[in-house]
Amino acid sequence: PYEMFKQANEINPIQWVSFFNVNGWLITGYKEVEAVLKDTRFIKEIRNLVQEENMPPIPQTLVPVVMLNRNMMLFRDAPNHTRLRGLVTKAFTPRMTERLRPTIVEMANYLLDARKGKTEHELIRDFAYSLPVMVITELIGVPKEDRERFRVWSDSFVKFIDFNTTQADLEAVAPSLEEADHYMRNLIAVKRVNPGEDLLSGLISVSDSGDKLNEDELVATCLLLLIAGHETTVNLITNGYHLLLKHRDEMKKLIDDPSLIGNAVEEILRFDPPVLLTSRWVGEDMELGGQQLKKAQTAIIALAAANRDPNIHESPDVFNVSRGNVKHLSFASGPHFCLGAPLARLETVIALEVLLKRVHDVKLLEEPVRRNNIVFRGFETLKFSGVVE
Ligand code: HEM
Repeated sequence: PYEMFKQANEINPIQWVSFFNVNGWLITGYKEVEAVLKDTRFIKEIRNLVQEENMPPIPQTLVPVVMLNRNMMLFRDAPNHTRLRGLVTKAFTPRMTERLRPTIVEMANYLLDARKGKTEHELIRDFAYSLPVMVITELIGVPKEDRERFRVWSDSFVKFIDFNTTQADLEAVAPSLEEADHYMRNLIAVKRVNPGEDLLSGLISVSDSGDKLNEDELVATCLLLLIAGHETTVNLITNGYHLLLKHRDEMKKLIDDPSLIGNAVEEILRFDPPVLLTSRWVGEDMELGGQQLKKAQTAIIALAAANRDPNIHESPDVFNVSRGNVKHLSFASGPHFCLGAPLARLETVIALEVLLKRVHDVKLLEEPVRRNNIVFRGFETLKFSGVVE
């Protein structure tokens, strides 16, 4: 996609395109992408623009899922977004993330222990897919024995965010999401009686001048954290390790000086981000970059294109883990800036530290195949050989 984004950006950083099922303004320049993400005239809720009766009817099977999404901050605008995000931020603190550090180190090592004595590995199956789901379920306070179910639900939710998902795809995964909803309600009931140190207990008790999250909002928030934090982190770990397998000089820099790994994670986020695109509705008629945008049109915001804007970075198409001042928009910007960014960074730094320290003589076994999703960028599998210490 990077070549396509580059060509688009050279023509115009804001232009009208037909993109899969969507017609809209493709935004590719760093300055423009950042401006749109921060501009509250670009909104998430089409319902605020179009009378409900003019919207296509929601199929009955999808009603519960649509209702669930309506309680997720990611799909809301101010003032509802501000309220939800404010409450969640009070419970999901940087301290809570930092407290997970030793557990993440332990989990990463545990996953690698299981690979000892084997020489061929598949990074996603053996490591990258499990780590984020272990971490997020631990954070929320889900019992260990139920982790596997969360993997399935996370896969189902991914369908809702892709641009080329059909209604049939959505209907196929709807039952799985209802199951997730049902599970969360039971877990909330348990935590109400028996609160712990976990995030769900924190979300249940958090209040702002007496205002609290209701049952539906609690369910939606926990599932949002799962969806937003799973596929993305799997892909960041995998895209990162793939880049290092392909750029051996860069890998060597990190083995020689592990203190560079934090910077390397920023460069991976810039160079091959897990979320290529996001979108907004144009909330009112306006002029932007010489173009006339009309209310209710779509803005397709190419985060990945912005990261390689030559106006921002020298040699943007070069992967360099010691690059200074790595700027990127891979966690977005503005009111919806990724709430899990500190956790995603922590997990990925630890994942790479452990992999680089414990797996030696590594070699890519075959050119991996990309997953077929326009929003999330990752691989189907990443096969490599190496000796685990
Ligand atoms: C929002 C990327 C990991 C929770 C976002 C957005 C992006 C993003 C681009 C904004 C979308 C938009 O504006 O339309 C990523 C990437 C991750 C990652 C690349 C991993 C590498 C996580 C994790 C969590 C998380 C681990 C939670 C534990 C959220 C939440 C939002 C969000 C709750 C919604 C914020 C809001 O609407 O105000 N993320 N994310 N993310 N992310 Fe992440």
